[in-house]
Amino acid sequence: MATAGSLAPFRTVVIVLAAVFVALDPFSLSPIAGEKDFKVLSFPQPSLGILASIPRDEKNILKNAEIVYGGQIFGPESVLFDSQGRGPYSGVADGRVVRWEGPEKGWVEFATVVSNRTEICNPTKPPTANVKYEHLCGRPLGLRISKDGELFICDAYFGLLKVGPEGGLAEVLSNESEGEKLGFTNDLDIHDDGTIYFTDSSTKHPRSKFFYSMLESEDTGRFLKYDPKTKETTVLIKKLRFPNGVTFSRDHSFIVISETRLGRLIRYWVKGPKAGTWEHFVWLPGFPDNVRTNEAGDFWVALHCRRSLFDSIMNYFPAAKQAFLKLPLSPKSLYNIFAGKPHAAALKISPDGQILQVVEDKKGESAKLLSEVEEHDGRLWMGSVVLPHLAVIDKP
Ligand SMILES: *[C@@H]1O[C@H](CO)[C@@H](O)[C@H](O)[C@H]1NC(C)=O
Ligand SMILES: *[C@@H]1O[C@H](CO)[C@@H](O)[C@H](O)[C@H]1NC(C)=O
Repeated sequence: MATAGSLAPFRTVVIVLAAVFVALDPFSLSPIAGEKDFKVLSFPQPSLGILASIPRDEKNILKNAEIVYGGQIFGPESVLFDSQGRGPYSGVADGRVVRWEGPEKGWVEFATVVSNRTEICNPTKPPTANVKYEHLCGRPLGLRISKDGELFICDAYFGLLKVGPEGGLAEVLSNESEGEKLGFTNDLDIHDDGTIYFTDSSTKHPRSKFFYSMLESEDTGRFLKYDPKTKETTVLIKKLRFPNGVTFSRDHSFIVISETRLGRLIRYWVKGPKAGTWEHFVWLPGFPDNVRTNEAGDFWVALHCRRSLFDSIMNYFPAAKQAFLKLPLSPKSLYNIFAGKPHAAALKISPDGQILQVVEDKKGESAKLLSEVEEHDGRLWMGSVVLPHLAVIDKP
């Protein structure tokens, strides 16, 4: 009769063989198969005390959000209205910037980022299939309108662009800096003096592979400025981990930047004694996308998802995480493990960094996967880079 003792060597051999199989990944089943330079890094995290002190939305306010334009607009990341109240404008998955022109005309093409849009750029079903060609068709993300009515676009592939008040083909203002090509231009804001401040989320992975940047916690992200007079692009901050949304304080003395991988906001001073320096601003309970200033001067920051315990723990063991990623996991299950179930969360932050309000849809029954919260005419307009609609709610 076999005893536990006599089976032990056999069991050890099986475990060792399984470990070798996973490590070698002979059938390239792992999500990081083919990623030569994939390297998980560790990153700073807030204390549990800080996270525990952040309030939750007990009323689950965003559950009452209304879903609008369902199926008419895919992946509206940024939501914008112009000074005449026209809009919303939004950049969508097929590479165009579109504008809502009322129930009769619907969503109308306003701007494009490439001159030769061929049929590969046409909206597809499922719309996620557009990702395959977005490096050719463009993927407009952050949008802002200047005082002169010009629309500035951060396109994830083509850089910082501008188009006049009538729309059309946008012109490239900046697609490299210090000799290095911009990798993943993401969001911008415009200073009173016309200087554009913007983010390049990664020079390692393009937008279509943003999840790799998140899994690695890599630090090739940068914060830059473009001077329209000299046409020069300057790097202001290097080694950021997925810098994303940007917004000026109402007095334009500083600019808030979301650093998605760290789950925080930082701020860069433009005026005053600290001009030219940056500092940590606010820890967040999840991973922020765009941030926008409302009329009162507070900041709305949209979270793509909340922090997951698994992700936080794995961060302390980069080698174990790297080994874990050699398991044959589908991108979808990997996403669920690290990001959790889709839901909605956004926070309102004061100019001195206090969390004023948290709004959530904890189960994602109405709103989820938010990319931006834009306060306009007493309502919150919420975009999502992956969903086929906007969500709207009266200002809570
Ligand atoms: C546009 O033209 C360039 C250069 O010929 C080409 O590489 C690219 O694939 C074209 N884009 C589309 C969307 O067909
Ligand atoms: C930058 O944009 C210009 C103008 O569209 C284009 O000719 C050039 O190839 C681009 N450079 C890079 C590095 O993408």
